Amino acid sequence: MYENEELPATLEWYKDQIAGHHPSVVKNGIRQIGIVKERGKEQNLLKLVQDGMRGISEVQFYDSIFQKDQSNHTKAQAVALEGLRNFVPHYFGKRVIEIASRSYEFIELEDITYPFKKPCIMDIKIGKVTYDPDASEDKKYTESIKCPHQKEFGFRILGYRLHPDEKGQVRVQDKNWGRTRTPENIQAAFNDYFQAIPTPKLKSDAIKIFRKELSKISEW
Ligand SMILES: Nc1ncnc2c1ncn2[C@@H]1O[C@H](COP(=O)(O)OP(=O)(O)OP(=O)(O)O)[C@@H](O)[C@H]1O
Ligand SMILES: [Mg+2]
Repeated sequence: MYENEELPATLEWYKDQIAGHHPSVVKNGIRQIGIVKERGKEQNLLKLVQDGMRGISEVQFYDSIFQKDQSNHTKAQAVALEGLRNFVPHYFGKRVIEIASRSYEFIELEDITYPFKKPCIMDIKIGKVTYDPDASEDKKYTESIKCPHQKEFGFRILGYRLHPDEKGQVRVQDKNWGRTRTPENIQAAFNDYFQAIPTPKLKSDAIKIFRKELSKISEW
């Protein structure tokens, strides 16, 4: 959408977004569309389908996990896909939405922060690399130098956003901070994130839950 255009009255920008395409980014007069919310449907959000293979792959990924008829998959594939449903937001399919007289394709997802009064969110990409197996050598190289320790960590931090502290201060870090994580400061990064938890007991309970959830993913 162009910089001077507005969202229709039925939509609003999603205020808790950490990373990814963001409406604050304007290039050549074109505003990026990130995540939007439909007024009156606060439990879900709409994520723009990105151009090219990125968007197609994401839609295929959710379609295959949430399709009811799994008859085009083997039994093992169907079980694996069903297992994946436990780790991703609920998916409600594709939506075509008009913004300033142009049609845009979105996917509708459960907003996983909706049940929380004071959400504290960290965006982490799991995996040693962030490129497709068929990416060009150039792309592989540029991606791998962005976050030099990702290969050894097996993940990359894109940032976090904690609910405001007692003084109303929002505490955030972005992807550039994430890229500077090293074996020496990675532990401190998680301590920073957990600073929002008020007592050591609650902190240790939260860490136990995180570890349990992560081990379920690695068992999958
Ligand atoms: N289902 C969700 N519930 C709550 N917040 C979400 C959800 N999906 C995305 N977000 C928020 O939006 C941001 C961007 O989303 P996401 O990382 O999925 O998109 P992207 O960065 O454009 O794509 P990708 O990371 O796949 O390259 C996340 O950092 C997170 O803050
Ligand atoms: Mg992202």
